[in-house]
Amino acid sequence: MKLDYAALTTLIYILTSISPAMSQWWYLGVVGPYAGTENGIIVRPKEARSKRAQPCEDMPFLGARQKELCNQGEFIIDVISEGAAMAISECLMQFKDRRWNCTTFDTTDVFGNILSLGVREKSFVYSITSAGVMQAVTRACGRGEIGNCGCDTNVYKRDTKNQFQWGGCSHNPEFGARFAREFVDTKELENNSDSKMNLWNNEAGRQTVKKKMKTLCKCHGVSASCAVRICWRSLSDFKEVGDALKVSYDGAKKVRYVARKDALKPAQKHYAKPKKRDLVYFKESPNFCEFDSSVGSLGTMGRQCNRTSQGLDSCSLLCCGRGFVSQIKEVEEDCNCRFAWCCKVVCDKCRRKQEFNYCK
Ligand SMILES: *[C@@H]1O[C@H](CO)[C@@H](O)[C@H](O)[C@H]1NC(C)=O
Ligand SMILES: *[C@@H]1O[C@H](CO)[C@@H](O)[C@H](O)[C@H]1NC(C)=O
Repeated sequence: MKLDYAALTTLIYILTSISPAMSQWWYLGVVGPYAGTENGIIVRPKEARSKRAQPCEDMPFLGARQKELCNQGEFIIDVISEGAAMAISECLMQFKDRRWNCTTFDTTDVFGNILSLGVREKSFVYSITSAGVMQAVTRACGRGEIGNCGCDTNVYKRDTKNQFQWGGCSHNPEFGARFAREFVDTKELENNSDSKMNLWNNEAGRQTVKKKMKTLCKCHGVSASCAVRICWRSLSDFKEVGDALKVSYDGAKKVRYVARKDALKPAQKHYAKPKKRDLVYFKESPNFCEFDSSVGSLGTMGRQCNRTSQGLDSCSLLCCGRGFVSQIKEVEEDCNCRFAWCCKVVCDKCRRKQEFNYCK
């Protein structure tokens, strides 16, 4: 057999240049119906969910199993898109004051080369996107938007110690978790260190959604007597999930991969074992001070910093000691606001000078 050497080298080049992080389902959060954020808040589509514009087969950033799941219901892809968009915008909010500010790109991996390293930031991205899908699916189930799931009736069996009665629609986290597990984890097929880390963090995200659920109640009775209290289990705002995952990010556990056992172990013998809601990572992060696209670092030059802060957004920490430049700009804001009969608030526009600081 004659080997075409040129074709072979091209093939090897192509195979080795495809990084596993390349195409990601969470690209749906960028191109889907929920795409686009305003000040970090998702802009919701105005009309009710529309028929999906694109067949699942035409979404090359989805894996085979993901396309199957996508085809199971008319609105599933919208719900996943909502989960992804919610996760992306929460990541932007949580990290807006940090050197790595969860920058997203218009590429199918969305978060760029940060995903090629086994660092904490990657752990956060995996956990929050997985949590986002679970949250969106669970909520959609509660609204009756997905065929084979609904409210959780198992809660009725839980003892209320005669304090209240179960009623209403309780969110069912099990279906959402199962769906998210099937949809999100399916890309991690191999038994290797990267997959192990991603699967762990995906699960930590879902566990956090569940942990953050709460019992909400409403009183019924004559004039606020609260003779009857009706309660149900509900998801928290996704912001609370984001806050919790940010805490987990700060306390993430460094681990190593033991191939022989296909397991993650603490990086050092005396470290505690990671718990199921902990985020895990392999490598310390770069400091994100300078531009280095190979590690997904844009650097902090030009970032706005806070001169009076002692925190991570302070000019000394954010600018990595390079110093900053100050600019006085005129800003316009509402002032002299007054109540106008009836019933609105009327304001004047005032201009005032404000100092802005930017990293050198
Ligand atoms: C990975 O390991 C699990 C058990 O830990 C096993 O069930 C599975 O078949 C393995 N997968 C591959 C692709 O080797
Ligand atoms: C995030 O950081 C990048 C690079 O420094 C910057 O261009 C971008 O404006 C920042 N985003 C926000 C929301 O501050």
